[in-house]
Amino acid sequence: MYVGMDDLWIQVKMVTIKLRKRGRGMLNQSESMHGMWSSRLMFIFAAAGSAVGLGNIWRFPYLAGENGGGVFVLAYLGCIALIGIPILVAEILLGRAGRQSPINAMLVLAKASNASPAWSIIGWMGALAGFMILSFYGVIAGWAMAYVADMVSGNFVGIEADAAAKSFDDFTGDPLKVVGWQTAFMALTITIAARGVGRGLEMTVRYLMPALFLLLVVLVLYSALTTGHFVAGLTFLFQPNFDDFSSNSLIMAMGQAFFTLSLGMGAIMAYGAYMPKGSSIVGTAATIAVLDTGVALMSGMVIFPLVFANGLESSAGPGLMFITLPIAFGQMIGGQIFGTIFFVLVSFAAITSSISLLEPAVAWVVEKTRLGRARGAVLVGLIAWLLGLGSALSFNLGAEWTLTNGMNFFDVMDYVSNNILLPLGGILIAIFTGWLLSEDQLQAQLAEDQGALPVWRFLTRFIAPLGVLIVFLVTIF
Ligand code: TRP
Repeated sequence: MYVGMDDLWIQVKMVTIKLRKRGRGMLNQSESMHGMWSSRLMFIFAAAGSAVGLGNIWRFPYLAGENGGGVFVLAYLGCIALIGIPILVAEILLGRAGRQSPINAMLVLAKASNASPAWSIIGWMGALAGFMILSFYGVIAGWAMAYVADMVSGNFVGIEADAAAKSFDDFTGDPLKVVGWQTAFMALTITIAARGVGRGLEMTVRYLMPALFLLLVVLVLYSALTTGHFVAGLTFLFQPNFDDFSSNSLIMAMGQAFFTLSLGMGAIMAYGAYMPKGSSIVGTAATIAVLDTGVALMSGMVIFPLVFANGLESSAGPGLMFITLPIAFGQMIGGQIFGTIFFVLVSFAAITSSISLLEPAVAWVVEKTRLGRARGAVLVGLIAWLLGLGSALSFNLGAEWTLTNGMNFFDVMDYVSNNILLPLGGILIAIFTGWLLSEDQLQAQLAEDQGALPVWRFLTRFIAPLGVLIVFLVTIF
């Protein structure tokens, strides 16, 4: 029988479609339908890009400043090593085993492990946490971009303390400005996400991550060479001061460990789905954690010497980066240039993180609907932007919309996501991976990590879930 070229083509297409459909619910695919990182290094750049962000440069220094410096740093490092790294390994592993959005990955992995499909709650809760985090993240990132413009134009040269505080209050009190910069930042995030894993995410981290490390080294050198207070900064960061440390500091340290490593919501799981097979997950996770912790400590080494050299307060809270630092840069030689570099660094760090907050939801929409990547990214991004308006307006029009404890919308988003949803997601991830995931799956993913496996298993089964639980209990009582 004669078969025309067209018929043949249609047949080929039908077979491909069938294969694709089957591929969706299947395990152990070698590739994700969303694309793949082109190498292990690019996965490290992407995951470190997610991890290194406002958490390291804005949040870590002010938390350390408020909670006793060295003790807080110690508690934070303990949480990274005993809770953070094991869960980081677990998330990468689940992602690479499932090769789909966290929601669907958890569904197929639970099924293959004879566990309840309800474990996909990890994915759902994670997507929710992602929206909540992005809500306030986009606002702060917008401020950082606005400060690049302010620094370049020399607005802070020679500025006095009162004037710096007033300039910050005027800026955050202007809803149009705050929403405008938040919108600009979100538009950038959506554009990158819409371009997909290869042309969007990887292209961004490939250039921004090396630039970020270079800028940070330049700033540390600047701080070390010009402030004359480098040692005072180091002392503050590493010398324990128990006076300012409370049980609330402990949960802050743990929340920070989750936040800074991007754990507990599936961001790293989503990125793990695009990681090539055949390289060690434990080694990769350790590299990411070291890079992330290194950046946090280096940010402290940039910020505190500047603060002390100018006789300013280390416990200024969230305003540390936006009020205290401009004063410091304003008084320093080369402050205009290095202040600009600083806020460019912060903006770069923020954008490589925000794309990872969007990815779990975008990947799910792409898998579940026929919208495709670009429209899916716009849809998800718009929802995040809308929720972000609530955070943006918390500083001006909505300053009076407070809940219990006088927390405004912004504070609630921050507190609930970081101190509740992420640790809860972390417990569930640790329990599922440590106790329920089928041994076949585990062995297949950790084939390169046989030596570390027993230690990882012990930490994941016992230490990580119990650690989170204890910190929860201590905080409640
Ligand atoms: N880790 C980033 C930071 O420190 C923020 C971030 C990106 C994040 N993706 C995340 C936090 C996922 C929690 C979960 O700035």
